[in-house]
Amino acid sequence: MKAFLFTDKDFKEIASLVYNACGIVLGEHKREMVYSRLARRIRELKLADFKTYLEYLKEHKDREFDAFINSITTNLTSFFRENHHFEFIKAQLAPTLLKANKQSKRIRIWSAGCSTGEEPYSLAMTLQELFPSDWDVKILATDLDSNVLTKAQNGIYTAANVNGLNSKQLKRWFLKSKDGESYKVKPKLQEFISFKRLNLLQEWPMKGKFDLILCRNVVIYFDKETKDQLFKRYGNILNERGYLFLGHSETMGKEHSQFKNLGKTMYRKTDNVHAV
Ligand SMILES: C[S@@+](CC[C@H](N)C(=O)[O-])C[C@H]1O[C@@H](n2cnc3c(N)ncnc32)[C@H](O)[C@@H]1O
Repeated sequence: MKAFLFTDKDFKEIASLVYNACGIVLGEHKREMVYSRLARRIRELKLADFKTYLEYLKEHKDREFDAFINSITTNLTSFFRENHHFEFIKAQLAPTLLKANKQSKRIRIWSAGCSTGEEPYSLAMTLQELFPSDWDVKILATDLDSNVLTKAQNGIYTAANVNGLNSKQLKRWFLKSKDGESYKVKPKLQEFISFKRLNLLQEWPMKGKFDLILCRNVVIYFDKETKDQLFKRYGNILNERGYLFLGHSETMGKEHSQFKNLGKTMYRKTDNVHAV
């Protein structure tokens, strides 16, 4: 027996609200997940059931809608997740950009759907070793979920979170708490990154273009139409021959002819006919 009544109608209404707000598709198989995540919220608010929660959500949209969306997003991430992307940055992307951007000495990277920050911090650790200190290297890290973004900005991680980092990285970029249970990112690493709240489906306020966009393990939750629109927009906001990295189970169809598939979920913009 479930603690709160959760009807088909409630599930459909929730799925439609979520899809319209952020593109996440909640299929039938997500029903249990939706129940357990929102039941927590219903308990906190001391409401009777899902129907009452949906009424509450409508009445207190300003206050509750963010918490509603935050409950639904899946935020799994880790430092140097899908490490082959970081290996590619070292072996190919950085040497290419060191030549291509040598006049401007400027590198712009966007971690789109950065979750709790492990992805942009991994990028910052990698990039600062690859570009000279007089280069202007900046990472924009965005997410829709305000909770994960606060966590990312704070940059405090458990010992388990930083498990994948080596002792040199930990020593250089983190401050260990006195009890040894948490690690805080040092300001000199945070300096590379601007964290901003952004819904990928809405307007993007950024003016400049990017050399690399990472949108990893985000579009997996979207339908084809949303993905196609997003890939087109990524194409428009990338520099000529800029790079786009997707997550391990995400692919871009061949119809996106503005991108060349480099393999291993990496793509490169091909405005130039002689793209390598
Ligand atoms: C599974 S995490 C991926 C984190 C990281 N990129 C990685 O690969 O480890 C997916 C993130 O996408 C965010 N997200 C989902 N829909 C979004 C949208 N419409 N706009 C912005 N972020 C979104 C979620 O909040 C979540 O933090």
